Amino acid sequence: MRITPKDEVRPVAGAESQEQPPVWRHRHILDLDDFSAAEIGLVMETSDAMMEILSRPIKKVPTLRGKTIVTLFYEPSTRTRSSFEMAAKNLSADVVNLNAQVSSSVKGECLTDALATLEALGADMVIMRHPMSGAPYVAARRIEASMINAGDGWHAHPTQALLDLYTIRQHKTSLKGLKVVIVGDIKHSRVARSNIWGLTKMGADVTVCCPYTLLPFGLEDTRGIFPEVTVTPDIERALEGADVVMALRLQKERQQSGLLPSIREYARYYQLTEARLAEAKADAIVLHPGPVNEDIEIASGVAHGPQSVINRQVTNGVAVRMALLYLLSGSKRL
Ligand code: CP
Repeated sequence: MRITPKDEVRPVAGAESQEQPPVWRHRHILDLDDFSAAEIGLVMETSDAMMEILSRPIKKVPTLRGKTIVTLFYEPSTRTRSSFEMAAKNLSADVVNLNAQVSSSVKGECLTDALATLEALGADMVIMRHPMSGAPYVAARRIEASMINAGDGWHAHPTQALLDLYTIRQHKTSLKGLKVVIVGDIKHSRVARSNIWGLTKMGADVTVCCPYTLLPFGLEDTRGIFPEVTVTPDIERALEGADVVMALRLQKERQQSGLLPSIREYARYYQLTEARLAEAKADAIVLHPGPVNEDIEIASGVAHGPQSVINRQVTNGVAVRMALLYLLSGSKRL
């Protein structure tokens, strides 16, 4: 990779954990279960360098000039797709956005054929969102290009979790020992799963709060499937002394009948309100991956209140995704 002095990305020394700086070994980004704390630290520090670039009057460096990045989205997205596009353009890559709803997939083309076509057209990286859990893993085995999982079904959303970790680190300096409470529809949440991996690897104490019907298998009785977290259906108890509160969208499109009596009932017992947030520490921050169902999982006063860092998460998403594209571009096959 060639970087001119004027446009230099600041070198990244050591990880937050004080371990030796890791060698970047990932060709794909599929989830955070296979990331070490040092590797997450490297992403955080590289994101700091990207934030510096974003503070310049001209927010563009030539790092990925001549590379082609494709966004391939089989589900709707506002934040993830647009921030990846901005990140890639800031690094001077050529970006092709493919919306599956208007692609040949509607004529019956399968995912692997679509990927082979994109590769034949010269894609160096593919950023994919797919409704099927595991689809990016299948894709990664079939292509030479780097695959970034931009959300697969209920399974994982690693780049969202990394930008969440970055946002927490920005406000709290370190993640170690923080009480992080994730409230809401955990069962259907790829954001929650990736955050549980990332947060626990960085030493945070994670509490998960939801009605038992929205708790995924394997989370309460971990048996090695997930890292250890505290589970409680009692929101007031969960929020006591929290440093960070992450509210999750109630995924109405993924609800099976019978999981909740009604949306109104859910809001009554699980909405993050000002009164409930008062159980957390006075300097607690509130995150939400978006899109927000205001006054369902989070009161509008909290979503737009002084403790909310929701817009900051969106801003940080560009820097974190720039960091990931930069790090992947150093992987062997690109
Ligand atoms: N957080 C998130 O994935 O948002 P989008 O669906 O808008 O990309």
